[in-house]
Amino acid sequence: MNEELLINYENQPCYKIVFRPDFNDLITVFNQEVGHTYDNICIVTDSNVAELYLSDVISTFKKLDVNVSSFSFPAGEKSKNLDMVKLLYEHLIIKRFTRNSLLVALGGGVVGDLTGFAAATFLRGIDFIQIPTTLLSQVDSSVGGKTGVDFNKYKNMVGAFYMPRLVYMNLNTIKSLDDDNFACGMAEVIKSALIADSNFYKWLKDNAAIISSKDYEALKYTVSKCCEIKGHVVEIDPKEKGIRAYLNFGHSLGHAIEKLSNFKLGHGQCVSLGMVCAMHLSNRLGYVSNIDVTDVISTLSAYNLPITISDLSATDILEASKSDKKMKGNKIKFIILKALGEADSYMDFSDEDLLWAIEKVLG
Ligand code: GLY
Repeated sequence: MNEELLINYENQPCYKIVFRPDFNDLITVFNQEVGHTYDNICIVTDSNVAELYLSDVISTFKKLDVNVSSFSFPAGEKSKNLDMVKLLYEHLIIKRFTRNSLLVALGGGVVGDLTGFAAATFLRGIDFIQIPTTLLSQVDSSVGGKTGVDFNKYKNMVGAFYMPRLVYMNLNTIKSLDDDNFACGMAEVIKSALIADSNFYKWLKDNAAIISSKDYEALKYTVSKCCEIKGHVVEIDPKEKGIRAYLNFGHSLGHAIEKLSNFKLGHGQCVSLGMVCAMHLSNRLGYVSNIDVTDVISTLSAYNLPITISDLSATDILEASKSDKKMKGNKIKFIILKALGEADSYMDFSDEDLLWAIEKVLG
């Protein structure tokens, strides 16, 4: 498997994703791929990641002849809002950031989304790079240029499509993740396989033990395969007018559960539950078989992902999913599988169909 992947945007080479075991190559890769001298660099991170990697990454960038500062915020989805973006803008203004400046997103999905949004909007757009440090951000959120923040109770309601100049992945950062965060990333990994590649899905199913042991080669294959799948999708449909929506498999009901759990359940855990519902709905349409549904449920379980949830009501989940931005008119644009490894969208589920599927995960 390649150590790097080039992502095109509007048919032009746009940025590289590189897979490495540490941060040792960061400046060499940065000089090769970005090759620009900035006035200022700000490394944006959260309180968890700052403790682990911030000093390493600051000293790496200090090797360049440039002012380096950092901005760290409390870890968690609760920070992903416009108030935090305002604090970041204030930091950039105090440090006299010009248009010739760079933001570095060092962390998981919240850090990447918020930093990318600040980069897209500060002075009408400055450069940024992604250094994703969680499995979830490496396989999904750092690729494809979706940036944004939550607004009131609405997830990712304000944002922009804005491409990074580089995505540098130190895959051994995955080893510092706790079990829940690792499982959370695996939900997006399984999703990528289910929508696009049945052989990859089978490989994930057969290799749960070695992947869960965080063996480097297994992680590299897993992450690079997901980036290849996602890279292909976002090259064809960067602004989600068509097939990019397939990446939302399991997300319509998953986001609703996430919101109702008040973000106490992780994104991946909720996507796992959403995928169980979506498998049942795909089966109801006569596509995937009963055996496929059972198989996917047991693969999710093998990666310690939830397949049932208690304490929520089916009607609340249905109502919450209707306030999601994936609606078209008053219909939910629902992603289903025509077969393992092949996705499609479907608009005609009745409330009764959806409630039936939601009941399947209410333990
Ligand atoms: N996470 C789904 C997307 O990037 O489109």
